[in-house]
Amino acid sequence: MLKFSRFRFLRHILIGLLSLACVVTFAACGANTTSTGSSAAGETLKVATEPAFPPFESQAASGGGLEGFDIDLMNAIGEAAGLTVEFESLPFDGIIPALQSGTVDAAISAMTITAERAEAVSFSRPYFKAGLAIAVKEGDSATTSLDSLKGKRIAVQIGTTGADEAKKVEGAKITTFDSAPLALQELANGNVDAVINDAPVTLYAVKSGNIPSVKVATDKLLTEEFYGIAMPKDSPTVEQVNAGLKTIIDNGKYAEIYKKWFDSEPPQLPETAL
Ligand code: ARG
Repeated sequence: MLKFSRFRFLRHILIGLLSLACVVTFAACGANTTSTGSSAAGETLKVATEPAFPPFESQAASGGGLEGFDIDLMNAIGEAAGLTVEFESLPFDGIIPALQSGTVDAAISAMTITAERAEAVSFSRPYFKAGLAIAVKEGDSATTSLDSLKGKRIAVQIGTTGADEAKKVEGAKITTFDSAPLALQELANGNVDAVINDAPVTLYAVKSGNIPSVKVATDKLLTEEFYGIAMPKDSPTVEQVNAGLKTIIDNGKYAEIYKKWFDSEPPQLPETAL
């Protein structure tokens, strides 16, 4: 009799402990759900960039973070869309693979919207109008077009539209570099005859005096290109980014950022680039 009741007593304690454990577990789960729910309000967007492309993206001289038109623009889009932007530096030719594998949520890197890239990633609406230019040494008056580069030495940044354009030149000897400033430096050093790169970046490098004795060969650009923010294919983020971009175009913030970096009024942008 005594034995039996002790057993029942122990059983009661055991059941009590088990139910307490359940309550604690559920409470913990409940708390967890609440905290996940509240953090969704300030969703973080991991944004890739190749930061050697001023004035679009570069490492601030003062040892600070990133700066440039793209950096200001992305932060303003994030603010308008309620997203916290976190930048991650990547090589330019590693950006699309990173978007495809989902290690980053977006990329802003003066990236031209092309049909080929649009098969692998989704782009925002165009946010900047640019084009390619040929850079040559100051004394060069023979380079007047892409055709005049036949058989010449051309430097480009790997994976860019400039690199694709250079491939069209018959007999050209193409050298690829990890960044546009490195390609331009090769020209300044006299090791190549030309660089094919985005005009705003080459013009900025020439004007800043960072790349001495280099000029843009022709006033006319080789191409007309539009930059877009790239995201994983069909990502729901595309809609959020486009909405944020529209907000800052409409409220004047876009024009303010454009004037800060280019000292002029922004041109009218098309709704789509392809
Ligand atoms: N607009 C060119 C392209 O899409 C060059 C972009 C290079 N960008 C950079 N951050 N390095 O191919």
